[in-house]
Amino acid sequence: MDQAYKLRSLINNKKQNDHKFRVIAVTSGKGGVGKTNFAVNLAIALKKRGLRVTILDADFGMANVDILFGIKTRYTIYDILYNDKTIDDVYELTDEGVKIIPGGSGIKELLDLNDEKRNKIIDEFSKINDIDVLIIDTGAGLSKTTLMFLTFADDIVVITNSEPCSLTDAYSLIKIISKENIKSNIGIVVNRVKNIVEGRETFNKLNNAIKIFLDKEIKYLGYISEDSKVINSVREQRPFISVYPKCEAGLCINKITSEILGVVESSRNATVKEYFSKILKFMGR
Ligand SMILES: Nc1ncnc2c1ncn2[C@@H]1O[C@H](COP(=O)(O)OP(=O)(O)OP(=O)(O)O)[C@@H](O)[C@H]1O
Ligand SMILES: [Mg+2]
Repeated sequence: MDQAYKLRSLINNKKQNDHKFRVIAVTSGKGGVGKTNFAVNLAIALKKRGLRVTILDADFGMANVDILFGIKTRYTIYDILYNDKTIDDVYELTDEGVKIIPGGSGIKELLDLNDEKRNKIIDEFSKINDIDVLIIDTGAGLSKTTLMFLTFADDIVVITNSEPCSLTDAYSLIKIISKENIKSNIGIVVNRVKNIVEGRETFNKLNNAIKIFLDKEIKYLGYISEDSKVINSVREQRPFISVYPKCEAGLCINKITSEILGVVESSRNATVKEYFSKILKFMGR
């Protein structure tokens, strides 16, 4: 190995470790409101705008990011911990160029790691050097693992629809986020609406309650129309923004993506290593 080569690889390594990314956690109070569909289609829309995007499927109960993409995953984070697999074995690349890290039952294991396993995960995740945005698809409600993903996310996107149960659960979730003193930005997406007015009115209801009872700012990111193409695309196991790019829901995703793009480009707070080190320390509390 010549001197110049060594120097170049040193510089490249430094660059890799310094690479910062933005973490967007997608969550909801009530289940089944459209988190995974949002996470997947947002990821593709961000990728189309030139960003390198990875989705971490952190819903250990009903992981289904892979199903919406119509791909079969080989391994999960569990296999990094207990079956000697590397991050490269676990990573999946979709046709759209979005990458997926399936968490599987490994997500729950993160709560109780010894130092060796913790370092292994941090080492493996530190090898990732090609992410501009990490989108985390969490389970509904607040498990301890979801809480820690939210704690260190730059942005939390809460998905709700206009039904009272979904709104009440979104409020309760934001109340806990506020109590836990989580500082991440909170954005709201109202899914399955009839029209633009229903989206805005639903947000206003939530925002008014939060203004009165909680000391928390939330931002309206936009709405997604009720669209039969979403249901069709789920059946076809292809993301709607890929198969029906001009459908109502697809246009809504594109508008929301423009909103989100502004913040993604404005600041990125942590390197991959910093983010996962913080999370795993927090888990061990
Ligand atoms: N905009 C929409 N228009 C029509 N149907 C929708 C829309 N968004 C979601 N759905 C329907 O809701 C179902 C659930 O969506 P999704 O799996 O994304 O929810 P989720 O919040 O991730 O659920 P879980 O809490 O189980 O993880 C979809 O399979 C689809 O049938
Ligand atoms: Mg889901």
